[in-house]
Formats: sequence, C-alpha cells, structure tokens
Amino acid sequence: MFTKKTVKDIDVRGKRVLVRVDFNVPLAEGSVTDDTRVRAALPTLRYLVDHGARVIVVSHLGRPKGAPDPRYSLRPVRRVLQRLLGRNVVFVDDIVGDEAHEAVGRMVDGEIVMLENVRFHPGEEANDPVFARELASLADMYVNDAFGAAHRAHASTAGVAAHLPAVAGLLLAREVETLTSMLTNPERPFVAILGGSKVSDKIGVIDRLLDCVDALLIGGGMCFTFLVAKGVAVGRSLVEAEWIERAKSMLDKAAERGVELVLPVDFVVAEQCVEDAETMIVGREEIPADMMGLDIGPTSAELFKGVIASARTIFWNGPMGVFELTPFENGTREVAMAVARNNRAVSVVGGGDSVAALKKFDLEERVTFVSTGGGASMKLLEGSPLPGVEALADKDA
Ligand code: 3PG
Repeated sequence: MFTKKTVKDIDVRGKRVLVRVDFNVPLAEGSVTDDTRVRAALPTLRYLVDHGARVIVVSHLGRPKGAPDPRYSLRPVRRVLQRLLGRNVVFVDDIVGDEAHEAVGRMVDGEIVMLENVRFHPGEEANDPVFARELASLADMYVNDAFGAAHRAHASTAGVAAHLPAVAGLLLAREVETLTSMLTNPERPFVAILGGSKVSDKIGVIDRLLDCVDALLIGGGMCFTFLVAKGVAVGRSLVEAEWIERAKSMLDKAAERGVELVLPVDFVVAEQCVEDAETMIVGREEIPADMMGLDIGPTSAELFKGVIASARTIFWNGPMGVFELTPFENGTREVAMAVARNNRAVSVVGGGDSVAALKKFDLEERVTFVSTGGGASMKLLEGSPLPGVEALADKDA
C-alpha cells in the first residue's frame, strides 16, 4: 500500500503547483530520441491541468556541473511535452530568478510553465536549503512525480518538500506501489531474472529478492562472479574479485531458503567484444582461458525460458549479454520474449538496459509494467529509503 498523499488528496484549483518530473531523456543532435519518461508524466500533468492548477514543471537532464550548459537544456523536451499534451507549454530560461517569478506571476489556471534544467544551479545537487526555499517560493504546493530521481536527496526532489505541502504524483505512486506489492504479495511462483555487468550494483537487490522469490535466474556479466564463487574457471570473462565472497554467501542463502538459483550452463564466447567477433558456444566448464563469455548460450536460454514460463510473477532487471551487439543479443532476446509470452504472469521490468532491450525487440507493450527508474527501482527493491518519497506527506497526516 502506498502510504503517501497524492495529487488526488489535495485541492489544486487555482494553486501554483511545482511538479518535479524526471525528464532525464536521451538526446541526439538536440532532439529527444526516447520520450518514454515524458509520456509517463502525462497522467499527473493532465490531472493537474484538468483540475485548474497552474503547473510549474521542473526536472534535471543529464549531469551538468551545477552551471548552465546548453547541451543539457530542457528546451527540446518542452517541444515533446507540448506535442504529447496538445497544449502550449511556456519555457523559461531560468530556475529561481526574476524571469521564472515573472512567468509564474503571469500564469492563469490550467497553464503550464517549464523551467530550465534544475541542475544548472549548484544548489540542486547540494540540496542547499536556501535554493530549496527559493524554488518553493515559486509555488503553493509541491508534487513529486520523478520516480527515476527519487533516490536522490536533492533540492527539487527532497529539500523543497520542507517548505510546501508535498504530495506524490500518479507515476511515482504507481511505481512505488507496483514494486512494493511485487515483493510483499506476489502471486507464486515468483521468478526474478537479473543480469547486467556488475554484481556490486545489485547485491542488495539479490539479498532482498532471496527473501521473496521462488527462483532467481542470473545471467549477464554478473553471473561470472557467481561461477567463480562455485569454483568454475571463466577465462577472461568479467569478474569482480572483491565480490566473490559475497556471491558465495548469496549462493548459501539461496540454498538455505530453498530458492532455486539458476546460473547459465553455456555461453557465447569470443576473444573480443565487437560487432564482427568470431564466436563459439561452449559449456560453462569449457570457457577457453583467452576468451570471455558475452552472452548466455542456447541451452541456458532454454533453461531460463522454462522457469519463466512457470511464473505467475516475474521481475526482470538487466540484460543476459551484450545485447547491443548482434552476436551477443540472442540470450537477452530469448528472455525478453519468454517474459512477454507469459501472459498469465504479472511482469515487471526495471532498469535502463532491460527497458532498452524490450524496446530493441519491440516487446515493450507486452509486459505488465515497465519502471521508469533504474537506480531508484534498485534502491527501493533493496529496501533503502527513497528521499524523494520519504519527504512527502503521509496519507493519514
Ligand atoms: C536516471 O536516469 O536514473 C535518473 O534520471 C537519475 O539521474 P542521475 O543518476 O543523474 O541522478
């Protein structure tokens, strides 16, 4: 259950509402190449506009170093938002200065003003209380809908909430609710699939998932650290030596709890990670010393698909191999297709790379829920508090 107030619990008519969204979208040559995050914010923005609020949109984009940098301007995103909403969005080349105050002062009910990248101000990432107060002075209320940035304790994601009535947007509420209820009340069997390159990024999530899942499938670069922990020689495959002991303890925990922890049994290996690599398929005990595993092999894919087909709840985070390159895309495609095909299961996909894989294989519409948060969803799943959520008013307050 989501315990924070949302936009639906407050009266927004005629109010200036500062809405933090996560419009940290990919750009190429000044254009947005993926508008998923903008689309995801539409329900909250539409709700506010339809209820007569004066909406002030604030977001970060990329990692500018606390100073204006035209490469990270939000101006191209304004065009996309305008098109998707089918209404005018006023862009202000400012955050808390006179220009921003004047634009907000001119607003009428149902209008939208979008501020420039909040990370152009050094006070944002520092969570400077003076900057947070300045931001707050633009508005009467604060709505956080930036789930993707909710793990950051920045001025616009957390600090500002100390100065205004602060509630959740619809996206943020749905993200937290979906991910939390998946852990607390999953239909069984609950199968989690983890991949991606690093164990170190995901150890907290693995630890927590082992308390809830029936099966955990591990592929991607991170599986080699687990294989080394089991005494397998993995050639030049990616291994995080300092995490081998921790991986071993996760294998023990899985055994203790009766969780089926499945590691790949074969791999696509190559000497180099390149598009025209010469590849071989080998059993996991036969990885040549001068080669590295860059994708799970066909037998592993079959094994994983069988477990995925039996699930009633699926969580997937991280690719099975270097799916951006054709010779190493197959394992990720097979897993993505197996998740998509299981329409009896609730399927939740989190994290940038697995979402990119779903898009590459055109399967995005075939899963139940795609999280807009990479780091944020990992933090939530490992049980760490999210400052952007903690700062909001409780429902019973
Ligand atoms: C993301 O893309 O994960 C969020 O927008 C957070 O961005 P950040 O890692 O630069 O804080």
